[in-house]
Formats: sequence, structure tokens, C-alpha cells
Amino acid sequence: MRRPFSFLLALLALGLLTATPVPAQPAPRAPAALTETLRDPLFPGLGQAGLDVRHYDLHLTVSEPGTRAVRGVVTLTLASTRPLAQVRLDFLGPGVTAVRWNDRAVPFRVDERAAKLTVTPPAPLRPGTAARLTVEYAGTPGERADPDFPTPLLLGWQAVPAGDGRAGTTFLLSEPNGTHTFLPSNDHPSDKATFTTRVTVPRGYVAAASGVEAGRVDAGGTSTFTFTQREPIPTYALGVFVDRFERVDGAAVPVGVGGRAVARRDYFPPETPGTVREAFGRTDEALRVLAEWFGPYPFAAYGVAVVTPRLPALETATLSTLPLNMSTERVAVHELAHQWFGNAVTPAQWPDVWLSEALAAYAELLWTEHLGGDGQAYAARWHANLTRAGTRPLAATRTGELFDLTTYQRGALTFHALRAEIGDAAFRDFLRAYVTRFSAGPGTVSTPAFLAFVRERAGAGAEGAVRRWVEERALPPLPVRR
Ligand code: TRP
Ligand code: ZN
Repeated sequence: MRRPFSFLLALLALGLLTATPVPAQPAPRAPAALTETLRDPLFPGLGQAGLDVRHYDLHLTVSEPGTRAVRGVVTLTLASTRPLAQVRLDFLGPGVTAVRWNDRAVPFRVDERAAKLTVTPPAPLRPGTAARLTVEYAGTPGERADPDFPTPLLLGWQAVPAGDGRAGTTFLLSEPNGTHTFLPSNDHPSDKATFTTRVTVPRGYVAAASGVEAGRVDAGGTSTFTFTQREPIPTYALGVFVDRFERVDGAAVPVGVGGRAVARRDYFPPETPGTVREAFGRTDEALRVLAEWFGPYPFAAYGVAVVTPRLPALETATLSTLPLNMSTERVAVHELAHQWFGNAVTPAQWPDVWLSEALAAYAELLWTEHLGGDGQAYAARWHANLTRAGTRPLAATRTGELFDLTTYQRGALTFHALRAEIGDAAFRDFLRAYVTRFSAGPGTVSTPAFLAFVRERAGAGAEGAVRRWVEERALPPLPVRR
């Protein structure tokens, strides 16, 4: 951190550090050691150490699409790696009406300043046991000012009011810390989980969410859509959408693990222009091209949900969020690549997010080459941009660096340097082995683990070349493929 004090003040002004233990705050009821956070270097208040949420079974009711009102019932399947006398979830959401532990009512406390919901189970949660924690809530989700984006943005639960003959829209846009605005969660990328998401909406509306659609039930004036996300994903990548969507199904593409079919569906609001739909016309081809480089597509479905507000695009799992203003083929390919890098191989902590953006950006270069374009010229533009704007080592040391030019373009050039060093065939093998290795188990990767893997797979020379890109302040010269 170069300017620690102004940085801290800026964060405090945004209310972001209220969850860290500073002496001025009232003492927590449990000894701090029982409810330690995950101590992320950039978001020190997020998560609970030792807590492992395996699954979220979520039922949302969105009675008035176009408003932020929501009712939720979520049952978390919990495990732990140490005895936990309390469970302390991230939550900045609507009012909690009931909390049950294995179906029995238990005491709970909401601390809005800390954005935590603390629950006291009848007996501590111990390693080797699992529990089901149910939370019921209703009202208006909290607001999280985006801590990092150049343009101001409220993260989390979003609404676009109906108007001009348009239906109302409600959806989720969370990276990095917006999911706990509407969902009690261990809202840190290191605790990935599976999801069942059921969404009840007024008849005529369509709900979509991460995962495979497992059915629709119409009853009375409502429709309920169910989605199962069977592979673990980080909480920030959960996608939920409500609009009068047109759902467009395509033939499955056999690029999953072992050639498994990947279901294809896109969701378009009725007012989507044809030019926007065209941006997604080559998704099947992009799935095949990227699966050649990265290995099998890691999820059971892929597509996009188009939303109308001016926002950045986000790689929501199995169903990327593509705002109209971002709906280009380049961005479409970028978000698709994030399904491997970000959603299957997830940053262990927020400073490691460059590993996601680097490879999503590098996919743009690979796609350009697939189309017969000049990848080296693409890389040269990145290098010129960084020379002009200045740069830094890759691990972010403050939130303002999370999604800056260095994260994307220096990150991408790091992989270009590795490719230049080892050649195309070895680079392809490296990427495939990297996905296999780091999507397994916890499904996360840290910067040191990445560097160790480069050394292990590609040797000390390659590691040295990559390390300059990762760790030095100065910009190394443009890598040239031989
Ligand atoms: N990961 C996004 C991308 O594809 C960028 C992003 C970061 C974002 N935070 C966001 C998008 C919040 C929407 C909302 O590059
Ligand atoms: Zn990205």
C-alpha cells in the first residue's frame, strides 16, 4: 500500500472496514477467536475461518420484478474444519424472520454495521459433522458500493423499474462482495459451494439462475423455476435473473468432461436488438475453440443473460451477465473464458484475482488468432497501453487495483510470456494441466501456488520469466513468440 492512511479513510467513508475488529466497536458476544474472519488482505471482514458451506438451497420469491424487494428461504449445509460455537455469516440483507438449526429454532443476531448474521447452535459445529442452517428473510436487500470499479456501481441485488412499455427486471451482480446483500453466506471465494436456486415470480415473468434448469411449476398467479448448480462455484459468481425473458435454446455442445454435452441456452429481454443477439451467434464455436486450449468445459450448461442497464459484464456461473452496452463478441468470449478461470479455478484470495482476468483477457487474443487475426499485434497493444499508463506487480494491494489495466493486460502478457518461452504445444498442455490441478479439491489458486506450478510443469527458466511479470514493478519487454 503506497498511501495507507488516505486509503483507509476512503474505505471507511465507504463503510467497508466496519467489519474489522477496531477497539471503538462494541465487543462481540463470543470471544473473537471463535468467530475469526477469513482475513482476506483486501476484504478483512469477509467470511468465517473454519466454516465450510457445502451447499445453498435457496428459494427466492420476487413478487414485484423491477423492485429490489425479495423474500428468501435458504438452507445452508455446513461443515467445519474446527469446532465452531457460533456461525457468523456475511449478510447485509433484508430483515431476518426465522433461523433454524437442523429444523429447530435457534438464537441469532444481526449486526448491520459488520454485515454479519450470527447464529448460536445448540452445540458447537465440529469437524466431521454437518448441519443444516435455515434462514428466512424478507424485505429490501442492503447496498454495497462497489469498492473497486472506476465507475460507481452498486453491487448485489439490482432492479430496473418497469417503464416505456418495458417489464421490470431484477437480478444479481456481485463481484467481489455483493452476494451477501441478499444471501446469508460465507461470501469469500475460498469457500465454493453448490447451489439449488428456486425462484418464484409472477406468471408471465421468466427466472434464470446459475446451473441447469430442473423444472418449472405454474401455480395460481406464479411460476417457480428451479436450477441446480452441481459443480461448486464462488458466491460472487452466482447468477439470478428475473425479466420477461425470451429463452433461446440451442443444441448441446459436446465439450464437457469426457465429451459430455453442455446444454446451451441464452436469455434475451424482448427489446434486445438483433445486433446484440449477433454478438452471441458464435458461442458454440467459442466453446470448442476455448475447450481446445483450456481443456473440457467445466460446467453442465452455458449461455448469456442480457440485461439493459449500462454496467460491466460479469461471468456469472453457466450464465454470463451481458449488459446491452457490453454485448460484443470480444466480451462474450472474455466472459466464456471466465467459466474456466474464475468459476472453476477460483482466486484463493482477492489479491489473486489477476489470475482470472489475465486468462479471460488472453482468451480474446486466442479468439483473434482463431479468426485469422494477429495475436502478436494484440499483445503489442496491451504492452503499449501499459507503457503509457504505468503498471505494478500483479497481486493487488488495494481494492482499486482489483480490476485495473495491469490486472487484465499485464496479466494477459504474463501468459503470453509463458507461451513465448515454451511454445504453443507446451502452453496448451500447461493450461489444461493447470485447470485440472486447480479446479480440483477446494478449486482455488493462489499466486505462489501458480508460480510453483509453472516451475513444476515448465521448469525454472519459465518460472523465472513469469516471475518478472508477476513480481517486478517495471514492465518487462514485450514477449515475442518465436
Ligand atoms: N469480472 C468482470 C469481468 O469480466 C469484471 C467485474 C468486476 C465486474 N467486478 C464487477 C462486472 C462487478 C460487473 C460487476 O471482467
Ligand atoms: Zn473479466
